[in-house]
Amino acid sequence: MRILVTGGAGYIGSTAVRMLIEKGFDVTVLDDLSTGHRDAISSSATFIEGSILNPDDVTTALKECDAVIHFAGKSLVGESVLKPDLYWSVNVEGTRILLDGMRKAGITRMVFSSSAATYGEPLTTPILETDPTLPTNPYGATKARIDEMLAVESDHYGLSAISLRYFNVAGALSTSQGWLAERHSPETHLIPNVLRSTQENPVSVFGTDWPTSDGTCIRDYVHVVDLIEAHIKALGALNSPTHTIINLGSGRGYSVFEVIDAASAALAREVHRRKSPRRDGDPAVLVADISRAKTLLSWAPTRDIAQMVLDSAHALELI
Ligand code: UFG
Repeated sequence: MRILVTGGAGYIGSTAVRMLIEKGFDVTVLDDLSTGHRDAISSSATFIEGSILNPDDVTTALKECDAVIHFAGKSLVGESVLKPDLYWSVNVEGTRILLDGMRKAGITRMVFSSSAATYGEPLTTPILETDPTLPTNPYGATKARIDEMLAVESDHYGLSAISLRYFNVAGALSTSQGWLAERHSPETHLIPNVLRSTQENPVSVFGTDWPTSDGTCIRDYVHVVDLIEAHIKALGALNSPTHTIINLGSGRGYSVFEVIDAASAALAREVHRRKSPRRDGDPAVLVADISRAKTLLSWAPTRDIAQMVLDSAHALELI
């Protein structure tokens, strides 16, 4: 069975490619290398350097494929506020072109990389898939729009699709060629920034006056290997023309200070930190209800925050 992995040169996509190949799948990668890295792509995959915005590239990449895991897209909340057009174009129009290509090629199965950013400021916690989508930034709005497009595609054209709504992804996969690290530039995510902090460049803690037990924001972190195991289970569950939304997190929250403590234990040194003002657009608490993933995919995460920071530290060559 051949899977097209769009965005297979990125942090999460390249991890998926390796794990799919290990499980015996054939893999084609479509990536324009705008944010991904050529050296992250397994040499066992067929690589098409091209864009989901180019129908010819999509047609070429879909050849002989049976299903698609769609990671390609722009994924930075802050950038999406500055460049909303770019997000609507790449994420929404790119997915439209991909869906049109799939329809022409008769491919009816897709797992989509959606996001907890679709929910916006949660009304209740933990967050259920049935909660309203009230995104607070263009990134989340584009992911919510794509989820709607997939529902229409299922209703009218027989697509079998699962949107996986990720919470905060961390950790890394160790391969025979080394670790597949998170390599963003600039890096905005908490865990890499905590791990790289030094006395001269301490990590900024965005707000210590939130209505939480220690005053810092709470997020639900999930290990990238657990996350991809859920994608592989989702592929196996695509057997009817329906669209299903499933949250992927660990189902428990960690505060910024708890993440710093876990990193300090992994590195066996103090993590230098600096109190900073709140970051615009951050909700206080984001935690997933993961009952649906447990029930529908028979999936449960097994790697805790200690493992996530340890693996991220290895991947960033800090230990
Ligand atoms: N934080 C800091 N200092 C930093 C970076 C982050 O204090 O240097 C704090 C943030 O304020 C937030 C928490 O750490 O409270 C996590 O921040 P991240 O930037 O690592 O992640 P976000 O929660 O902002 O966003 C991530 C993904 C989004 C996704 C969201 C869903 O980047 O794509 O999780 O939960 F939508």
